[in-house]
Order: sequence, then structure tokens, then C-alpha cells
Amino acid sequence: MDHRIPEVLIDAATIQQRIQQLAAQITTDYAEVTELVVVGVLRGCYLFVADLTRQLQLPTRVDFLSVASYSTENKAGSVRLLLDLRTDIQGAHVLLIDDIIDTGHTLNYLMQLLRAREPASLKTCVLVRKELRRKEPIEADYLGFDIPDQWVVGYGLDAGDRYRTLPYIGVLA
Ligand code: IMP
Ligand code: MG
Repeated sequence: MDHRIPEVLIDAATIQQRIQQLAAQITTDYAEVTELVVVGVLRGCYLFVADLTRQLQLPTRVDFLSVASYSTENKAGSVRLLLDLRTDIQGAHVLLIDDIIDTGHTLNYLMQLLRAREPASLKTCVLVRKELRRKEPIEADYLGFDIPDQWVVGYGLDAGDRYRTLPYIGVLA
């Protein structure tokens, strides 16, 4: 069992401060819509969705889906849907929330999946992005932080399903 204590990359206060800024921006941008449907990508998103949505000053519905991603260096990443939404998003304003963009395969797959259901609008909000690793031409509409290409854990992010509960984002030394 892995008992290493991750080195802090982004501390808890900095994460919360950035989430406040993102929530304020999202609240402003969606001020005119009657309802926002937040779609979280399990499981890495669970703390981010919880903290972000509590700061939104908007009528909001929250739903989740879950995917398994198999990305390797040489093969195009394949993504499989494990759990689908309960919400019908046709005609809805949808904000897709993920923990991390690495290659971009996961977000790209999910954007195509959700776009096919004809939402009124579809935007993305991602906590961290590994800038150098991106392979798909995809940008997040709302981004928390750019990080270097290292495996990060904490604040929802895992290594073999451990470390998700840390209040900060860290690197395994
Ligand atoms: P993608 O390469 O952008 O499709 O990301 C695939 C998935 O790999 C993400 O949704 C995360 O679940 C996971 N992932 C990628 N990089 C990291 C990391 O540094 N820490 C934890 N999970 C990661
Ligand atoms: Mg993961």
C-alpha cells in the first residue's frame, strides 16, 4: 500500500480562491439562463463539483456520469461510458465539469456524446490542465490551473484510487 505523502503543488487555500473566481465568472456568464445543468465526470470531479456549485448564484441542477479512459502514448485514447446521466439535456444549458485535461481524449469524447443530445449550450470547466500533454484540439471554457506534466493527486484526483480526499493538489515524490 502506498503511504507516501504527496508534495504540495497547489495548496487548499489557493484552490478555494480560484474556485471563488470561477464561480463568480460562471454566475455572470449564465445570469440570463433559467437553469444551469452541471454535469460532473465521476469520480475525480466530486470535490470540485461540490465546492464550485455551492458558490454559484444560479438555479442549478447537478448530474453525474462516469467514464473509463484508456490512454496510451502511441494509441488514440479510447473512452468508455460506464454511467450515463439521468437528466435529459436536450434544450438545456450544460456545463461539463472534469478534474483534469491530460491528452484531452476524455473531454473530447464527452463533448461529442453530449452535443449529440442537442443541449441549448455546452461548455466545459476543468480544474487542472497539463498544457504540454494535450493531443486533442480542445480547450476548457473555464480553467482552474495549468500544471506541468507530472502525475498529480488530491482534491479528487487519484493514484490507484488513493489520495482523492486530500484538500490540496500534490505530486508523488
Ligand atoms: P485524458 O488523457 O485527458 O483523456 O485524461 C484521462 C483521465 O486520466 C483523466 O480524466 C483523469 O482521470 C486521468 N488523469 C490524467 N492525468 C492524471 C493525473 O495527473 N492524476 C490523476 N489522474 C489523471
Ligand atoms: Mg482517474
